Amino acid sequence: MRAWRVHRSGRPSDVLELDELPEPEPGPGTVRVRPAATVLNYNEVDGCRGRYLTVNPPIPYVLGMEVTGVVDAAGPGAEAWIGRRVVATAAGAFGGHAEAVICPVDMVFDAPAALDDTGAAAFFFPFHLAYLGLHTRGGLRAGETVLIQAAAGGVGSAAVQLAKAAGARVIATAGGPDKVAFVRDLGADVVVDYRADDFAPVVEEITEGAGVDVVFDGVGGEVGARSRRCLGHGGRYLVVGFASGIEAEEEPMVTGRELCFGSISVCGVMLSYRSDPVLVRRAAGFNITPRSVGEAVHADLLRLLDAGAIRPVVGREVSFADLPAALDAMEARETVGRVVVHVR
Ligand SMILES: NC(=O)c1ccc[n+]([C@@H]2O[C@H](COP(=O)([O-])OP(=O)(O)OC[C@H]3O[C@@H](n4cnc5c(N)ncnc54)[C@H](OP(=O)(O)O)[C@@H]3O)[C@@H](O)[C@H]2O)c1
Repeated sequence: MRAWRVHRSGRPSDVLELDELPEPEPGPGTVRVRPAATVLNYNEVDGCRGRYLTVNPPIPYVLGMEVTGVVDAAGPGAEAWIGRRVVATAAGAFGGHAEAVICPVDMVFDAPAALDDTGAAAFFFPFHLAYLGLHTRGGLRAGETVLIQAAAGGVGSAAVQLAKAAGARVIATAGGPDKVAFVRDLGADVVVDYRADDFAPVVEEITEGAGVDVVFDGVGGEVGARSRRCLGHGGRYLVVGFASGIEAEEEPMVTGRELCFGSISVCGVMLSYRSDPVLVRRAAGFNITPRSVGEAVHADLLRLLDAGAIRPVVGREVSFADLPAALDAMEARETVGRVVVHVR
């Protein structure tokens, strides 16, 4: 099979090579997916750069997290998935940009029947992650105000739609006038070009000084620090990602004073489901969300999709050969929505 492997650290198009590899065989509790489409995820830029500590297999390794396709083989206990069209995350969150991908069944869901492979690929990860952030962790309620950073991106564009579908007021940020227009079309109430203007005074004005109830932040760093100061009483800051610099993941984020006198909460958000989360907690110290929660999230997302309240955002479609150049574009902040890669 052909697969894009990271061979050294650097710019995606400099470090990715298209290699011919033996096809992987599924083990217990895993399936093999034949991807019709894979999708770019910002963490893959960090993976190419060699600075992503969470997913850091020895090089060379096959890049790629998210796949959409048909299951053609299954290990013991996973046979029920054979022949089904699925959306899934690759085992260990790498190995996805390949013609055959092993996925743990805990991270496999039926692809929405209403969507073609391109739409299903763009749908899965952003909406699950945004739902876990806004609802499962953030407890967003109708009538509340949410500040969504990098709202034109894959995850951000899903968060805008889910927040609007929940009856929230959305203040969003995006870099540049084209992205601002794009986010406005998604339904955000107010959009700030945060590369040109400060978003904090806008939040002050819109909320009449009260601050926002929830911040959905996939950018981190200085944007994250300023975002937390935009929170009002009882506000929830959702730690979704660190697109402005993954190194911030290892740095102290809030002081006790900020938490105590701000009356705010900081909520970590991770998209990973396991039917045996306690095992992972004992082994790695991570608190993984139970698979049963993922199934409930998927069902509610399908309901919203069927009701026309949300839709996948496909910003660009590229061929398998053009994947590295598309990752370069993502790093250069030139992409919107999900970039879908056609594998066949
Ligand atoms: N918690 C989890 O389980 C999980 C899993 C996967 C990914 N994530 C994180 O979720 C976030 C969104 O991921 P995504 O795949 O949907 O990416 P994305 O939002 O489509 O792309 C990243 C965006 O971040 C913004 N950005 C701000 N500062 C940047 C900088 N210094 N360099 C590059 N981009 C910058 C850019 O938008 P503007 O031009 O509009 O600023 C850029 O388009 C990322 O932080 C990612 O690491 C979290």
